[in-house]
Amino acid sequence: MTSFVCRLPACVLLSAFFLPTTPSVAQTHAAHVTNRVSSADAKMERFVSALMAKMTPREKIMQMEQAAGHEISSQKADELAREGVGSFLFVTDPARIHALQKIAVTESRLHIPLIFGYDVIHGYHTIFPVPIALASSWDPGLVERVQSAAAREARANGIHWAFTPMVDIARDPRWGRIMEGAGEDPYLGEQMAAAQVRGLQGPVVGGPHNILACVKHFAAYGDAVGGRDYDSVEIPETALRNVYLRPYHAAVKAGAATVMSAYQDLNDVPATGNVWLMREILRKEWGFKGFVVSDWEAVKSLQIHGFAASQEDAAVRAVKAGINMEMTSTAYADHLEDALKKGEVTLREIDDLVRPILEMKYRLGLFDNPYIDLNVAKQETDTPAAHALSQKAAEQSSILLRNEDHALPLSKSIGSLAVIGPLADAKMSTKGSWSQHGDPNEVITVAEGLREKLPNAKISVTKGVEIRRFNASVFDAQMPEPAPTLLTEEARNAEFQHAVDLAKQADVTVLVLGELQNMNGEHASRAELTLPGKQEQLMEAIVATGKPVVLVLMSGRPMDITWASKHVPAILNVWYPGTEGGRAVANLLMGDANPGGHLTVTWPRSVGQVPIYYNDNTTQLPEEVTYRYWDEPSTPVWPFGFGLSYSTFSFSKMQVNNWTVTENAPLRVSIDVTNTSSVPGTDVVQLYTHQRAGSASRPVRELKAFRKVSLAPHETQTVTLEVPAGELRYWSGSLHRDVLEPGIFDVWLGDDSTAKNHAEFHVKTVR
Ligand code: BGC
Repeated sequence: MTSFVCRLPACVLLSAFFLPTTPSVAQTHAAHVTNRVSSADAKMERFVSALMAKMTPREKIMQMEQAAGHEISSQKADELAREGVGSFLFVTDPARIHALQKIAVTESRLHIPLIFGYDVIHGYHTIFPVPIALASSWDPGLVERVQSAAAREARANGIHWAFTPMVDIARDPRWGRIMEGAGEDPYLGEQMAAAQVRGLQGPVVGGPHNILACVKHFAAYGDAVGGRDYDSVEIPETALRNVYLRPYHAAVKAGAATVMSAYQDLNDVPATGNVWLMREILRKEWGFKGFVVSDWEAVKSLQIHGFAASQEDAAVRAVKAGINMEMTSTAYADHLEDALKKGEVTLREIDDLVRPILEMKYRLGLFDNPYIDLNVAKQETDTPAAHALSQKAAEQSSILLRNEDHALPLSKSIGSLAVIGPLADAKMSTKGSWSQHGDPNEVITVAEGLREKLPNAKISVTKGVEIRRFNASVFDAQMPEPAPTLLTEEARNAEFQHAVDLAKQADVTVLVLGELQNMNGEHASRAELTLPGKQEQLMEAIVATGKPVVLVLMSGRPMDITWASKHVPAILNVWYPGTEGGRAVANLLMGDANPGGHLTVTWPRSVGQVPIYYNDNTTQLPEEVTYRYWDEPSTPVWPFGFGLSYSTFSFSKMQVNNWTVTENAPLRVSIDVTNTSSVPGTDVVQLYTHQRAGSASRPVRELKAFRKVSLAPHETQTVTLEVPAGELRYWSGSLHRDVLEPGIFDVWLGDDSTAKNHAEFHVKTVR
């Protein structure tokens, strides 16, 4: 097969607009770079203008279409490439990508290359832990390295554009897509959003091993009413600006090249037709210069929402809102030429939307070299380095939720182990949803990881119960879960009893319970948070044997494991840990890795508490706050930020270094953190603030800074965290603007959101 060597024009490497925040280099050097950069941009502008001058309206409109390669015949895909369609998604065979690109470049009238997009959510071939897990590492550097490795593998295989990061804040674990984001907190969400953009795109758009990021789903998709996927969202502007919009903005500030419009209505206006969101906020306020792609058929759906009167109206409204590219539906291709003729849209409007698409293709270097090298694709796929990183990420993102009497780690001289549960040996589920391209055969399950780790122990593995989703997932064809094998009540009872018997005979039982991957993700909301099927009964029966039991929880959302939180001595939440998940879990269980993950979501006692989050406001009768319900405490099982370790830590000598904070003098707080154990480990130092009074009520606590620290046995480190005054700004619901208000603030430091080390400081503003 012919091979095509990737080479990028120097101008692409210098393309400027997407430089990250000013680097701390000498001014002269910065000026030099800026000049070179703007000349590269000027060259790009000339190139794109010259190309657009040759394009017919039809050719422009076709560039604004993205087709689903896996849903159409190859003949149709070839035709679209010839006609100059802008992009394909879901074409993954490198040879096919190459063939389609060749048609676009050699047979379309203007030879404009295609851009290939894909959901590289947590890896491409090599699957990393799911995003909520990655965020639980509280380590933006690690997350950046993970997305950089994912980008490298995807780019080598012909993918230019990842529909990642999903930065939707989610406070409701019923929503299946909580798994795809960083959890409930805007500050943590900002850090994770920016880290992912940096990892995927590299320092400047156009790196040979990088791909475009796509921030989604703009905006506020994570707050669907009742946690029901795709349902409407109603959020006041205060919460939108102070909570929900912040991670998208952080991603845009980090240079995200593209944004995806959300499916749902936001305060009655569908996001994909929402002029305020797409034009006022995204482009005017935030200065976004990349392009916006709609979500899947979201332009067509404007009519379904009862918003647009027809498909033509849907296309017109999406144009007015500033949707540059339509994903999979064809309202643009079918109707925009007519709308142009009728004067419903102008050529100027079309030009403004098509230009950023062409610019992005230019920045990627596709006009100079559109092809991939099929040998390089092979070499860069499933590399040992990527697998090692995946394992490390899984170790660092698992959260030890309970560990009574040092139940974990297990002794390496253990004689026999029972590994029980529907997820104990489940390859597809261990890699988690949104991992269609990861080969399940490459996945190491928990059972396999333990067998590899303990070659001399007697290890018996069984499911105990089978679980399944009752209605089909839209992804079942791409990621089929094995069909149930226990077809009669008798067979199910026998398997249940078999599992209990194995537990009785073993020195220790590792229960691996939770949800199959198709119970999470898109189109996978739940009304209950309990363990599906008879897993709870199985767990209770095994605990009743009186033998040592450890629960490994595998899922993409917090689950109702309130009984386990009181009766199972050790609980390790591993989310969906990815390709090397089983090895990571075995290392964690046996003490060869020390859990260091912390919760990025508040863990509810039951579904009735949902939504529950730490950064709410203090209101009437605060002394009653832990009993807002008469039938259950209103506190969670585990708070936001919580996570145990095999090490123990203590905090002392908290010091506010400057009592007065101003625009020029950030808050600086330090604290001594000591590892009081004989095991090396990591802890996450978290800083929370509270504004005591102002023009609007402020949350009881807000995360404003954090640092992950590694400590040797008995080591003490002084950790200093800084909060710039800008971080204390908020959008005031009474003044309808962004404010920094003078007054007294509280500050807490600790390793979860109930941190006890407290001090005060004072904000002084300059009038
Ligand atoms: C999802 C997006 C995804 C797109 C393409 C949609 O259904 O909402 O997150 O990127 O499909 O697969």
